Amino acid sequence: MRLDKYLAHATGLTRSRAHGMIRSGQVTVNGAVVKIIGHKLKPDDEVVWREQSVELSGKRYIMLNKPEGVVCATHDAVHKTVLDLLGDEGKKGLHVAGRLDIDTTGLVLLTDDGDWSHRITSPKHGCSKTYRASLAEALAPSVVEQFAAGIELRGEAKKTRPARLELLSPTEVRLTLDEGKYHQVKRMFAALGNRVVALHRERIGSVALDESLLPGQWRELSDEEVAALTA
Ligand code: URA
Repeated sequence: MRLDKYLAHATGLTRSRAHGMIRSGQVTVNGAVVKIIGHKLKPDDEVVWREQSVELSGKRYIMLNKPEGVVCATHDAVHKTVLDLLGDEGKKGLHVAGRLDIDTTGLVLLTDDGDWSHRITSPKHGCSKTYRASLAEALAPSVVEQFAAGIELRGEAKKTRPARLELLSPTEVRLTLDEGKYHQVKRMFAALGNRVVALHRERIGSVALDESLLPGQWRELSDEEVAALTA
């Protein structure tokens, strides 16, 4: 996070007053005066203003590009977890807002704000999730209507909600769901006698995975992205 934004968030100063404090040399980072308002802070940096350590008390919102083989869990005896990928940030009470399977890649959101993650995951709010999937068998164009009409999943009394399917090639699709049942994408294709061979989450609501994040990398969400998911 930028130093000016951090100072303003943590102290309640306006952004322009925070600029004044930084430019006049009243702020140190790891013991050294920093006068650059856009100075990029690293997770463990210690910021001091007027001889007081400045801690962010606000909520945290993070997007991560999950690689294959990593689990969306807080602890796992065998596999690396998404929290392990965050390093020390992962020890600060964050949780996953909408899990992915171990072999699914792409956008994972993490936060310590329970209300915010509830809006993303609760079926009541219908927050959409967009996936790109590769299939074992070629699809007929008629599957688009089948997904729009809802699919009967094994062991479920009700059909899935209408889903938007875009055929990118006979074996590649983009699928947008407004719900998140257990293994939903894989189960929807299995119900049609097909099999998902690769699955990647591209988007949650209006927030897309930042293309500059390599697998395993993460960044803080912007204020606009946080707000877009609560709108
Ligand atoms: N649907 C699945 O089947 N797996 C995921 O990881 C996400 C959605």
